[in-house]
Amino acid sequence: MYSNKFPENFLWGGATAANQCEGGYKDGNKGLSTVDVIPSGEDRFPVMKGNLKMMTCDEEHYYPSHEAIDFYHRYKDDIKLFGEMGFKTFRLSISWARIFPNGDDEVANEEGLMFYESLFDECLKYGIEPLVTITHFDVPMHLVETIGSWRSRKMVEHYERLCTTLFNRYKDKVKYWLTFNEIDMLLHLPFIGAGLTFDEGENEEEIKYQAAHHQLIASAKATETAREINPNFRIGCMLAGASTYANTCAPEDVWKSITRDRENYFFIDVQSRGEYPNYAKKMFERNNINLNMEDKDEEILRNNTVDFISFSYYASRLTSADPNVNTKTSGNVFPTLRNPYLKASEWGWQIDPLGLRITLNALYDRYQKPLFIVENGLGAVDILDKDGYVEDDYRIEYLREHIKAMKVAINEDGVELMGYTPWGCIDLVSASTGEMKKRYGFIYVDKDNEGKGTLARSKKKSFYWYKKVIASNGEELD
Ligand code: BG6
Repeated sequence: MYSNKFPENFLWGGATAANQCEGGYKDGNKGLSTVDVIPSGEDRFPVMKGNLKMMTCDEEHYYPSHEAIDFYHRYKDDIKLFGEMGFKTFRLSISWARIFPNGDDEVANEEGLMFYESLFDECLKYGIEPLVTITHFDVPMHLVETIGSWRSRKMVEHYERLCTTLFNRYKDKVKYWLTFNEIDMLLHLPFIGAGLTFDEGENEEEIKYQAAHHQLIASAKATETAREINPNFRIGCMLAGASTYANTCAPEDVWKSITRDRENYFFIDVQSRGEYPNYAKKMFERNNINLNMEDKDEEILRNNTVDFISFSYYASRLTSADPNVNTKTSGNVFPTLRNPYLKASEWGWQIDPLGLRITLNALYDRYQKPLFIVENGLGAVDILDKDGYVEDDYRIEYLREHIKAMKVAINEDGVELMGYTPWGCIDLVSASTGEMKKRYGFIYVDKDNEGKGTLARSKKKSFYWYKKVIASNGEELD
């Protein structure tokens, strides 16, 4: 019988990342992380790309991760609000340097472990299932300085120690794990994605793909360990998703859009199908990219593919083979061509709910595994009214249209979708710009771009709307 509903056990919730919300960057014996040395302002992008080396903090820059929204000290109150909205799941990430302050420590930092333990208990108290990203733009700086981060194969061991520690400690509290946030980010912003920096004259492409190989092996080994520790765990990969459209029906444009998508699919092709795709092997040959692989690597990848595919989706992308078509706008991480059929957010990200259905179908057709939308949302400037309330109808409209697209993909296309965790369910620091004024939340946080504000939390109109959406399992969207 035809149904037009979300599945009964659909996981509604919200998503955050440690580096953008926790703050407390030195508290509880935490070590310095890559994100802690990324300033806001004009140096941010060169640092995130790995072209400007900043190995430590200085007095001239402002570092938004240091305090962020102080979730480290306020998580109990914040999770209570998520409980009030009826969240079934909450996506958060582990700060690696809280657990292993240097990354290569032999013994884990008990204070860090206790922090996440208490956080998970708090979630479970409200019936919220934690969804844990093991690393979200986060490498202990000590590993960057001593071994060049993911350039080195040793990272596989360090990551494995982190995962084994987490899986053993939280095996009865956490079921859903994601190995790396937006693993494809490594190609576009290698410092934030993988702690990579470059010297002039280096073969950057080769270094990036070697680091990618290490992450892919680390992800597969983590999957293997997870299954040994608790066969009920569900392990997912995570992609900065969004289909790339061709600007015209010229075959050259269509071909370009296919090759663009492959750059990002490459990672998921390995994590989900268990081997390097032929197009990647050929690309390595053409571009003189020689990867060091160990004898067992192919077997490790083949035997440990993920259970589900998670992804972020904010906007679709557009490309053209014609160099004269070059009016660009920004998008998640890298710019894209301006699509005249779409409206854009205040930051130029193009709003395309049907693009979400297209992306869901593209991923499901390609992998035939359950999908999970672990980020989606509208970054916007919110204005408080005289009572301190935000009427964020623009955000509600954005989310409503995307939820409708999900519903159609499930019911008309047969896509298996496990859940939906809109990004920045509470306002937090923007990853691309380091700003606070680019807000995604259902909960407003009183803090500005310069770090001023009381950090007080208040509920926006979308808070009440989303609560209704969850309570009705996606039936009441108005
Ligand atoms: C994704 C990241 O790229 O997009 C998040 O996983 C990020 O960390 C989100 O915050 C939204 O991007 P931004 O730049 O608006 O914060």
